[in-house]
Amino acid sequence: MQILRTVQELRTWSRAQRAAGKTIGLVPTMGALHAGHASLMRAAVASCNRVVVSIFVNPTQFGPNEDYARYPRTFEADCKLAEEAEVDAVFAPSVEELYAPWAETFVDAGSLSGKLDGASRPGHFRGVATIVTKLFIAAEPDRAFFGQKDAAQVAVLRRMTRDLGFGLELVACPIVREADGLALSSRNAYLSAEERRQALVLSRAVSFVASLFAQGERSSTALIEAARGIFATEPAVRVDYIELSDWDTLKPQETAAPGSLFAVAAWVGATRLIDNTILG
Ligand code: PAJ
Repeated sequence: MQILRTVQELRTWSRAQRAAGKTIGLVPTMGALHAGHASLMRAAVASCNRVVVSIFVNPTQFGPNEDYARYPRTFEADCKLAEEAEVDAVFAPSVEELYAPWAETFVDAGSLSGKLDGASRPGHFRGVATIVTKLFIAAEPDRAFFGQKDAAQVAVLRRMTRDLGFGLELVACPIVREADGLALSSRNAYLSAEERRQALVLSRAVSFVASLFAQGERSSTALIEAARGIFATEPAVRVDYIELSDWDTLKPQETAAPGSLFAVAAWVGATRLIDNTILG
């Protein structure tokens, strides 16, 4: 497995693969890799001839009071996991490599950037859209793999890929969970044992809503109230949002339909966690 440190190295690697007739898969990550990331890598390896995983804690997607400085950085373990998943290359640039101090150009994802996580994290999706654009331009992948875990991110990046005409396929992979339902997240490392227990309320809420939908409930108000009821069983957990939306536009929906996104975000202690389900 090759370790690439500069945009030029990544571009040279990618173009050499393409010249040899290989298709290229890209899996963007911020490291602290877990089985959720590994599932993306496996999906990429299964459908592309060559796979590159980027590991970069992207400063522009963190707000001033967020966890950029303390975000877990576990590069050696990450490389081991990538190697086990049969990834061909890891792209791990420095901040200076991707952000020149004089840079003024960012990618603004329009109205979608202000929805769901974008509403509580101003500027977050601008940072995500900008870094992913840089990765798309440098790696020139045929397919890029993202997790449904970050469902609003998928919507923003799908839209961006269409709007900017990147000509690549964006693949959304299912949420990987612990045996007890907790969605895997690099931020789960922040949780104390008691918070880890409280955090289960997110997956309980989304799976309860999925079961109500399966039984025929279609009213957004009823589904959101049902989720609120589950959250009420863990009063220490502070809800950020509970929303039923169209997964393409992220606009709120009054009536649920197959393919609707039911998403939640909540603070467990000082840690903000998210979860969701695509109904039907
Ligand atoms: P990060 O949080 O490291 O996640 C990288 C990818 O792994 C994302 O597409 C995310 O949705 C996916 N992922 C995380 N947890 C998952 C789980 N439990 N099951 C399935 N997939 C999961 O998302 C980012 O990084 C960044 O915003 C990035 C796109 C890399 C831009 O900086």
